[in-house]
Amino acid sequence: MFSQTPSLEPSDTGATSVGSAEPSVATVTPALDSAALDLLFREARSTQTFLATPVASETLRELYQLVKWTPTGFNSQPARFRFVQSPEAKERLVPALSSSNRDKVLAAPVTVIVAHDTRFYDRLPQLFPAYDARPLFENTPAFAESTARHNATLQAAFLILAARALGLEAGPMSGFKPEEVERRFFADGRHRVTLLVNLGYGDQSRVRSRGVRLDFEDVAQIL
Ligand SMILES: Cc1cc2nc3c(=O)[nH]c(=O)nc-3n(C[C@H](O)[C@H](O)[C@H](O)COP(=O)(O)O)c2cc1C
Repeated sequence: MFSQTPSLEPSDTGATSVGSAEPSVATVTPALDSAALDLLFREARSTQTFLATPVASETLRELYQLVKWTPTGFNSQPARFRFVQSPEAKERLVPALSSSNRDKVLAAPVTVIVAHDTRFYDRLPQLFPAYDARPLFENTPAFAESTARHNATLQAAFLILAARALGLEAGPMSGFKPEEVERRFFADGRHRVTLLVNLGYGDQSRVRSRGVRLDFEDVAQIL
C-alpha cells in the first residue's frame, strides 16, 4: 500500500508538466498509494448492509490500537467505546433507535456506541503532563462538555477510517435517542453519547448509488 513512486497526476494537482517554469508538485510522493486511498476514501461507503461474517474481538482490539494514536486536544482522549455485539446487548440498544435504524443495527455484526466521559479531565495529569489543565475544565462545565464532545466526535471519525484501514466497513448513525442509550449503557450518569457506528464486512451486492460531493470551489479557498 506504500507508494515508492510519485503517483499524483497533473489533473490532481493542477500542475502542467511540459514547458512550465514552476517546479511541478507532481513530484510529491503521497504516503499511501491509489489503492489505499480508494479503500479509505474514494470507494469507501457508509455501509448499511453487512455480511453475516462476525468481527473477531481481536479485530476490535486492533481497531482501538489504531484509534488511540489519533490526535485530541490536550491529548485528552475523551471518547469511550462500547462494542455492542451479543444479541442481548443489541436488544438493549434497540428501544433507543429511530425506526429506520433498527433493522440496520440488528443486522450489523457490531454496533459501536461512541460516548464521551464528562470527567475526562481527571486523566489529564497522566495524559497531558505539561501542566495541570484540569482547572480549565473543572471550573467551566460548558467548556468541558464542548471539548469532550468535539474531541470524541473526532475520535468517532478516526474510528471509521481505522475500520476501513483494517478491511471493515462502517455505517455511522445519529438517528437514536442519546439519553436512552446513556441510561441503558452508562449507569454512572457521567457519559454522553455522540454517535453509533455499525461495523462489519460489507455486502457488495447491496451497494446504493453514491451521493454527490461538493467541489473544492464550492467549499474551500486557498488564502
Ligand atoms: C454523523 C452522521 C450521522 C448519520 N446518521 C445516519 C443515520 O441515522 N442513519 C443512516 O442510515 N445513515 C446515517 N448516516 C450516513 C449518511 O447518510 C452517509 O454518511 C452519507 O449519505 C454518505 O454516504 P456514503 O458514505 O455511502 O457516500 C450518518 C452519517 C454521519 C456521518
